Amino acid sequence: MKSKKFYVTTPIYYVNDRPHIGHAYTTILADVLARYHRLLNVPTFFLTGADEHGQKVQQAADKAGISPQQHADATVVRFQDLWKKLEITHDDFIRTTEPRHKTVVQKLFQALYEKGEIYRAEYDGWYCVPCERFFMEKDLENGACPDCKRPVDRIRESNYFLRMSQYQDWLIQYIQDNPKFIQPDFRRNETLGFLRKPLTDLCVSRPKSRLSWGIELPFDKDFVAYVWCDALTNYISAVGYLSDDVKFKTWWPASCHLIGKDILTTHTVYWPIMLKAMGVELPESVFAHGWWLVGDSKMSKTTGNVVDPMEFVDKHGVDPFRYFLMAEMILGQDASFTEEAFVRRYNADLANDLGNILSRLLKMIESYTGGLLPEPGQPGEEELQLRAAAVESAGAMELAITGMRLDQGLAAVTNVVRAANRYLEKKQPWTLAKQADKQPLHTVLYHAAETLRIVSGLLFPVMPGKMTELRQALGIQEATPDIRSLKEWGLLKPGTKLGAMQVLFPRIMPEEKKTETSVGAGTPPSRPPKEAKTEPVGVALVEYADFQKIQLRTARIISAEKVAGADKLLKLQIDVGGEARQLVAGIAQHYDAATLPGKTVVVVANLKPAVIRGVESNGMLLAASHGKELRLVTVEGDFSSGAVVK
Ligand code: MSP
Repeated sequence: MKSKKFYVTTPIYYVNDRPHIGHAYTTILADVLARYHRLLNVPTFFLTGADEHGQKVQQAADKAGISPQQHADATVVRFQDLWKKLEITHDDFIRTTEPRHKTVVQKLFQALYEKGEIYRAEYDGWYCVPCERFFMEKDLENGACPDCKRPVDRIRESNYFLRMSQYQDWLIQYIQDNPKFIQPDFRRNETLGFLRKPLTDLCVSRPKSRLSWGIELPFDKDFVAYVWCDALTNYISAVGYLSDDVKFKTWWPASCHLIGKDILTTHTVYWPIMLKAMGVELPESVFAHGWWLVGDSKMSKTTGNVVDPMEFVDKHGVDPFRYFLMAEMILGQDASFTEEAFVRRYNADLANDLGNILSRLLKMIESYTGGLLPEPGQPGEEELQLRAAAVESAGAMELAITGMRLDQGLAAVTNVVRAANRYLEKKQPWTLAKQADKQPLHTVLYHAAETLRIVSGLLFPVMPGKMTELRQALGIQEATPDIRSLKEWGLLKPGTKLGAMQVLFPRIMPEEKKTETSVGAGTPPSRPPKEAKTEPVGVALVEYADFQKIQLRTARIISAEKVAGADKLLKLQIDVGGEARQLVAGIAQHYDAATLPGKTVVVVANLKPAVIRGVESNGMLLAASHGKELRLVTVEGDFSSGAVVK
């Protein structure tokens, strides 16, 4: 991007909709772009908000028997809460019912009216209520709305119109002269295609007799502003248009309006013409992304396949969700959302590749160099290659961001993670550790750790929480990364104490559903299956050596709480000899959470971590079960935690 600042916007969402993954996607994309620009040290302003006027809000409010404002106030929080949950770092959230916005819309209408850009006329044509748009007979498709394909109403009324037609040639020329204005290219062609037909003037008002929930026109109290003219104005009213010149000059023109492909015409025809008529500069670019399909189908309330981002994040965590959306969609094209696709990508990129190298590395550094980052020796051919790949991925990411090819930037970074895993496989530090000369071992450990430093910085805008944990484990002090440090090799200081950490991305087990009712991760169900009852004791004898593989230890329960949406599960925080752990146990129907803290129980301490109902579980409680009864195996009296049980 040419400009020295970055002002990014999302569409303002219809306040009466329930947020779904489509809304979540655009906002996360804007957040990721904003965070990358901050990382690139570019002053950034990120705007999102809510579209609160119009027929749909009025109808919904009427149905609920409340005022439209009460309705908007009650529903806007769905979006605000979701943005909090998704760690969205917007600088402003504009609501079109706020006075700061309404005043600007009114001033703008007044100015356009005085300039003669807006005129009154009789309208006779077709109107689509859900889209809140007028259509000429010729625009209809089989007599229905060309956008949503629903039936249209015949309407005849007096209204105000914006002289759009006079700007048609100018707009075509502008789009041709500014290839970056509409992106991707094929969307630009779509708009140019639309502009091949003569433009009709835009009806910019609605009579109050039909729709009163809108911004009143300053020059005619019987009308309100057409909701799209009202909504589009948010992009300038939020940054001080006609109210704060300094702020407006700082941020406008917007660097990028992010939109979905369905609202291309409003953003690339109506909006530029409105701005031109007002004598305001156009945004640098309008980028239309594709749609999330669920499997192969369009998301729709009627089909009942709408994915609720809140529920998904509760189950799988915010960072993996953000990562999946960003990595899976090729910017501009449609993509398919399924839980299976999510689990596949999560397990491949995050659990296997990134999580794996981190936990192996930390364990090796813990056991070979006492948890201290070793001093590397002279780099060989492979080290130089790994360094180059890591540092170059920072450049690749920068280019990907400015070129709106985020998925490619992420692919470049995950390739580096794979290269680092291959490097460890090849160098076999566990073999090098047996040599007397420790320098080769130290070189390998350092190179893997330093690669992870760069990777964690580059993935920070997408997974801020998890990458902060990773960076802390590597002993990095700065709260947020900076591009300069990511293009430079060797900034981790040898001798730094590396932190211990829980598994960063526990693998999602395909058999997760089966374990949901179990006592602990991977345990048999608390109510044993029928066959087990009839199984004679003594079957399947194990060798003592096999039994020894299972590490049983005492643990103190620190706190316990219910797992949301799961009747049988409790989430426990436990202390195992000074190590804090979390585990999920299927004991909620047998124990009241409040009675558990302070108990000393026995846990399988070396069980592979699992995710149960989206909650990480590290270990398993031992419990005895008989019929409907279940009792925890506890240790009498005040006994140390972490003690070996044998
Ligand atoms: N209020 C208008 C925008 C006004 S902007 C000045 C609006 N709101 S919306 O809530 O209906 O849609 C907001 C955005 O969500 C649009 O960009 C739309 O493309 C996007 N999506 C709706 N469903 C989607 C998917 N299934 N996938 C991706 N994005 C989708 O339009």
